[in-house]
Amino acid sequence: MRATARAQPNIALIKYWGKRDSQRNLPAVGSISVTLDELYTTMRVELDGALDHDELRVNGSDARSMLPRVSRCLDTVLGAERLRARVTSTSNFPIAAGLASSASSFAALVAAASAASGRNSTVEELAGLAGRASGSAARSLYGGFVELRNAADGIAVGTILDGDTWPLRIVAAVTSKAPKPVGSGEAMEVSRRTSPFYSRWVEEQEMDLATARDAIVMRDFGKLASVAEHNCLKMHSVMWASRPPVVYWNAATLACLERVRELQSEGVGAFFTIDAGPQVKVVCLPGDEARVIDALSGTDGVESVLASGIGAGATLVNGD
Ligand code: PMV
Repeated sequence: MRATARAQPNIALIKYWGKRDSQRNLPAVGSISVTLDELYTTMRVELDGALDHDELRVNGSDARSMLPRVSRCLDTVLGAERLRARVTSTSNFPIAAGLASSASSFAALVAAASAASGRNSTVEELAGLAGRASGSAARSLYGGFVELRNAADGIAVGTILDGDTWPLRIVAAVTSKAPKPVGSGEAMEVSRRTSPFYSRWVEEQEMDLATARDAIVMRDFGKLASVAEHNCLKMHSVMWASRPPVVYWNAATLACLERVRELQSEGVGAFFTIDAGPQVKVVCLPGDEARVIDALSGTDGVESVLASGIGAGATLVNGD
């Protein structure tokens, strides 16, 4: 009655922002991401008839505040009449700071919970379940370049291209490890209700998805760079124009963007993207990784720099 799974966070190149059904947590728009390699979350789930409530430890400490969301996710996977669980989560990168730890956590959680109960769920089923907890988590069940599409009654997720075929590198500049001021789920709802740019954002998404899909299949770095930066800045414009405004950036976020512009003007193959947090993720060609790491490490306000390749989807860890 126990299992351990590991999943990597993913970084959206074409972003998900806004829900079409908040009850079932279904996204308003499709999205495209890359699943990382070196950063990961390991989740151990032990179902125990002797427990009268779920328990959660995150990176060695009791994590009561995160428990309700984890319990709800377990209900979704196992049904409300399930046994209670002892859940242990370990991540090798900062959590709740815009490095997509919710994606890796919920992807690993659904895979571990399903295996612990002896279910033989397909990856499609697991992606649907992870998406109920965190929209972006559905993508971490898959490796490489991943597209999430809206289907009639849910989502359809799949790999467009694997990471070995186009081994780009991702360098993340951590500008603050503080938890974000407002969670992405709540902020999306504020944007949907109040941002004058929201409907246009939703309208244009199919076009950006098609451009990015094409760029990935053709391995056209310049084309992917241009549409990904545009889509990222468009999403943040939607947020900034919300009431109250949703601003995740800090001064170092902007300094990193300027640094990337300088690198680009020097001919470095790199582009930026930013999610619901102040960190800047730079996607680059393998031969330019060292220059990107060097440039971001030397940028004012950058606390640390993490680098990763493109990795595989969630997997069960043997030996548990
Ligand atoms: O999956 P959530 O609810 O944490 O939302 C993720 C939203 C963004 O990271 C900003 C964009 C994305 O597509 O991952």
